[in-house]
Amino acid sequence: AIIPVILSGGSGTRLWPMSRSDRPKQFLALTADATMLQLTAERTRDARFAAPIVVAGAAHAAMVEEQFAQIGIEPAAIILEPVARNTAPAIALAALAADDPHAPLLVMPSDHAIADASAFGDAIAAALPLVEQGWLVTFGITPDAPETGYGYIKVGEALGEGVHRVDRFVEKPPREAAEAMLASGDHAWNGGIFLFRADIFLGALSVHAPDMLAAAQEAMAKAERNGVQVRPDAQAFAASPSNSIDYAVMEKADRVAVVPVSMGWSDIGSWDALHALSACDPQGNSSRGDAVLIDVENSLVRADGVRVAMVGVSDLIVIASGSDILILPRGRSQDVRKVIDALKD
Ligand code: GDD
Ligand code: MG
Repeated sequence: AIIPVILSGGSGTRLWPMSRSDRPKQFLALTADATMLQLTAERTRDARFAAPIVVAGAAHAAMVEEQFAQIGIEPAAIILEPVARNTAPAIALAALAADDPHAPLLVMPSDHAIADASAFGDAIAAALPLVEQGWLVTFGITPDAPETGYGYIKVGEALGEGVHRVDRFVEKPPREAAEAMLASGDHAWNGGIFLFRADIFLGALSVHAPDMLAAAQEAMAKAERNGVQVRPDAQAFAASPSNSIDYAVMEKADRVAVVPVSMGWSDIGSWDALHALSACDPQGNSSRGDAVLIDVENSLVRADGVRVAMVGVSDLIVIASGSDILILPRGRSQDVRKVIDALKD
């Protein structure tokens, strides 16, 4: 069976004030009543999958356990990182925890939206034959804008039905390069979702990031275990270099393939992105929580623990959470960063 590996280490600030370091985006109900982490786990409720391995920051242990208990899915392991070392070391811990070293691992961020689960399922099926032969597979999303916050993949020759060689990876390109790749028609966004055998990934790490592999191995050898909770040794894990799977492995490894897929994917990188993917009422509004909207159009409203009433406005984003309220016009949600910076000062 495929072992899902759910990465839950993000500390997303772009969805402030709902997302904060003590409850980042993956733990929030943004698109449905279930949280992003729960929706990710739900995608693995299928006979093709074994119980998931979750990798999360130690500070979020209780929230992870509670959210899994709520949906009645028992993870095979919840690996609690003592410090964040980015995605490559996190995935290394999971690969070392897999009970079958040849098992395919489906690595998934815990905070992405995927509207079309069956297209995702088909893409996984298309990838499996190559994965079994030792390829590292990523999923390529058809780009519709020159986003600079994503990795791009040049889609190469076909290797099989729906599977292509990766000609090259370009992680987070500058604007002009992103525009050229969008125009080329033969590039996809890297969705940050990967499928490979645990042993093949660890083998690639031993070649391209041996220090990282050694740190993960020592951290797991000395890990403290308590039920499903696994606490890797803090000193050993802290010694790992910090790097993403994209830079540390995918850009360097030899047999890397991509499955292009159209599945209503979004990493919900901003409030505008959430509005774009939300089901809206006939007035174009998406509201959750205790909101009263009178003559309001094309707005995104989140009322978390407080009542919000709006009259006669349009194209607004209003996010009220606890004692914080964010108000901005649609189209400006990238500037939430500036709020975060201002709050730090
Ligand atoms: N457990 C754990 N530990 N998870 C982590 C860590 C960590 O140290 N760091 C990041 N993650 C999780 C995040 O929660 C997120 O779900 C996922 O791994 C990806 O990390 P990001 O930090 O969001 O990566 P990114 O957005 O810069 O770029 C990646 O994702 C893009 C798509 O959203 C790359 O793979 C890009 O190429 C890709 O386009
Ligand atoms: Mg991201």
